[in-house]
Amino acid sequence: MALSLSRTVFLFSAVVSLATVHGDTPANCTYEDARGTWLFYLGPTGFNSTVDCSKPFDVKRTIRVELLYPDVAQDEFGNQGFWTLIYNQGFEVVVGTHKYFAFSNYTSVNKTVINHCSSTTPGWSHDLMSRNWACYFGEKITTVSSKKVYIPLEEKLDLQRKYVPNEVFVSKINSVQSLWEATHYPEMYGWTLGDLQRRAGGIPQTATPRPPTAAVSEELRLAASQLPNSFDWRDRDREDFVSPIRNQGQCGSCYAFASMAMMESRLRVLTNNSLQVVLSPQDVVGCSEYSQGCEGGFPYLIAGKYAQDFGAVEESCFPYLGVDSACNEKKDCMRYYATNYYYVGGYYGACSEPLMRLELVNNGPVAVGFEVLNDFLNYKGGIYRHTGLTDKFNPWVITNHAVLVVGYGSDQAVCPLFPFRGNFL
Ligand SMILES: *[C@@H]1O[C@H](CO)[C@@H](O)[C@H](O)[C@H]1NC(C)=O
Ligand SMILES: *[C@@H]1O[C@H](CO)[C@@H](O)[C@H](O)[C@H]1NC(C)=O
Ligand SMILES: *[C@@H]1O[C@H](CO)[C@@H](O)[C@H](O)[C@H]1NC(C)=O
Ligand SMILES: *[C@@H]1O[C@H](CO)[C@@H](O)[C@H](O)[C@H]1NC(C)=O
Ligand SMILES: *[C@@H]1O[C@H](CO)[C@@H](O)[C@H](O)[C@H]1NC(C)=O
Repeated sequence: MALSLSRTVFLFSAVVSLATVHGDTPANCTYEDARGTWLFYLGPTGFNSTVDCSKPFDVKRTIRVELLYPDVAQDEFGNQGFWTLIYNQGFEVVVGTHKYFAFSNYTSVNKTVINHCSSTTPGWSHDLMSRNWACYFGEKITTVSSKKVYIPLEEKLDLQRKYVPNEVFVSKINSVQSLWEATHYPEMYGWTLGDLQRRAGGIPQTATPRPPTAAVSEELRLAASQLPNSFDWRDRDREDFVSPIRNQGQCGSCYAFASMAMMESRLRVLTNNSLQVVLSPQDVVGCSEYSQGCEGGFPYLIAGKYAQDFGAVEESCFPYLGVDSACNEKKDCMRYYATNYYYVGGYYGACSEPLMRLELVNNGPVAVGFEVLNDFLNYKGGIYRHTGLTDKFNPWVITNHAVLVVGYGSDQAVCPLFPFRGNFL
């Protein structure tokens, strides 16, 4: 972990755990789709981060990269590096002197998405210092995956329907269990189901197969067993290392809020709470090509990759609008860069509870994916566990939300629990 302060730059290390999500691109490619041998077709080099990879480019060079189990990337010159899937959206490869990231390829016709998991959309390549950019796309030359077709589940719901207050549902939640308390939120009354769905995570996703959790060594297990039984970054030696909760409104920007919140906390942790900034989620919504604005994105690509390649800016540089917008940053804003980023355990899928607790206590709050079920819309406080109840007046499909984990506790009667702090309400 490095912190290096210079006039306009803060460096820190970002980390994310598991899926961390929301609507995103409609791509739905698996670990097995990615694993294998790829050709990367590279365009002209020598660009900076302003390169526009959406324009056609001439292929100048081709490199062959093998993506091996679980996270080893090997190029045709024998260089060994690293790769990770990013949920079901695409993969990042670091090998030789360069990093490569592209979303998986898909086409859509009449709301039917066709996944072409054996190729990528045009993506970005640059050296390890985020310099010398080029565009590229990838094509898989082994075990070409079949096309998959799906119609987004939300098509089956009437997203224009207005939310209906449902007292019976709230009372029912409160009567069947006592771990957490449910309440009414009058602010939701004028909203459509689509608004609520976007705030909670956007286009529904169901779990995508991922590589098995990385084995936890005896050493790590021992280290984790020596951690405190409960831990909270909001009260660490009576200091609060977590910035205030914010409301994302009707934009599917949970991933941007979770990412900025993690960076804010990590900057506090690294500076013994002397640097307390509020960073700009709108900058991510309006400026990042590594995410889909109000349609979602992933903390790995924001608190990690975007923060490393472009840096985050403060809220005052680009105040929150809560809608898709152009990239209207003020001039000459201070930028905060990540020196490093990784999934807990090293790659997508590797995360486990001991690793998560170690990361949290040793380095700071962790952005995570969180499955939002119908009853969570009425969450007020307490230890959330799904009641199994659904609100038939307000039909719902499971969505993936991004939140920030700031601590944990343990309760022998239940199971290890993670208090969360997100941007939900
Ligand atoms: C990137 O390159 C363009 C074109 O060469 C140049 O105009 C621009 O100032 C550069 N931007 C940065 C941030 O270096
Ligand atoms: C898309 O839907 C329209 C209207 O239902 C239909 O006329 C058209 O043929 C469809 N296109 C394809 C490629 O299926
Ligand atoms: C994406 O898939 C479509 C359909 O197979 C194909 O025509 C297109 O060339 C692919 N894009 C890339 C960058 O390979
Ligand atoms: C994505 O693909 C996986 C595995 O092929 C499947 O189980 C899952 O239902 C798919 N998700 C969506 C949203 O289609
Ligand atoms: C961190 O800040 C606290 C509270 O201001 C102070 O008591 C403590 O000495 C500081 N720790 C270090 C290592 O500077």
